[in-house]
Amino acid sequence: MAEVVIVDSGEAAGRLVADHIAEQVHLNPEMVLGVATGSTPLSVYRELARRRSQGVDFGRAWAFALDEYVGLPEGHPQSYRAVIDREVTVPLGLDPSHVNVPDGGDEGIESTGERYEAALHARGGVDLQLLGIGTTGHIGFNEPGSSFGSLTRVKTLTEQTRADNARFFDSPDEVPIHCVTQGLGTILRARHLVLLAFGEGKAAAVAAAVEGPVTASLPGSAIQLHEHVTVVIDEAAASRLEHADYYRWARDHKPSWQGI
Ligand code: PGA
Repeated sequence: MAEVVIVDSGEAAGRLVADHIAEQVHLNPEMVLGVATGSTPLSVYRELARRRSQGVDFGRAWAFALDEYVGLPEGHPQSYRAVIDREVTVPLGLDPSHVNVPDGGDEGIESTGERYEAALHARGGVDLQLLGIGTTGHIGFNEPGSSFGSLTRVKTLTEQTRADNARFFDSPDEVPIHCVTQGLGTILRARHLVLLAFGEGKAAAVAAAVEGPVTASLPGSAIQLHEHVTVVIDEAAASRLEHADYYRWARDHKPSWQGI
């Protein structure tokens, strides 16, 4: 099962996860980090940037993003390529040629998923995958009904996700309808999944993903099939978990050598 770590704030989550990533990069400077967009992982990136200023070197690490919108003009500030450059590549000092984001350009869109899978495979897969979770229960952009075996492919966003993401655009109509996303099968191949969620708005999706039945109707529940998952959430996002007391107890009694 997943380890659930309930923290006081997004900042505390950022410190915890950044500590672990910094340790991993030290052990393996060429580690492959799976990066997510959205508001949730920002505290991790901020904290990693701080580690960089303290001497942690990400210059040989690799990054693979989970997803991208289809059809945004190249260089659009809300394209995930641009977001990853701004929030991750530049602040962490990654080599831009080591940073991969699915290609959401219209040309060659039919085979974009296969090309991304090939690039992932060539790098040996993702060592640590950061994940947010949508209010629909999506991870990556795998909306309800996504197959647990799915690989990177073009998907249609739900109207709920488009509304949730409208805050990043000038108008809700500008949010693309299609995306390219790693599949649930792709995500499950990563060696360690770290799912983050903060705030009351995520409580239902978190409870369903961690404690609900494993079902394609709640794609985040796929994490229950993975052997190494860490769920890092604040009190509000944890508020609907039935076994929260046990997760706190287990965390308090965790052998110190285990890490996350
Ligand atoms: P958020 O998005 O981090 O902006 O809440 C999470 C997601 O949609 O996966």
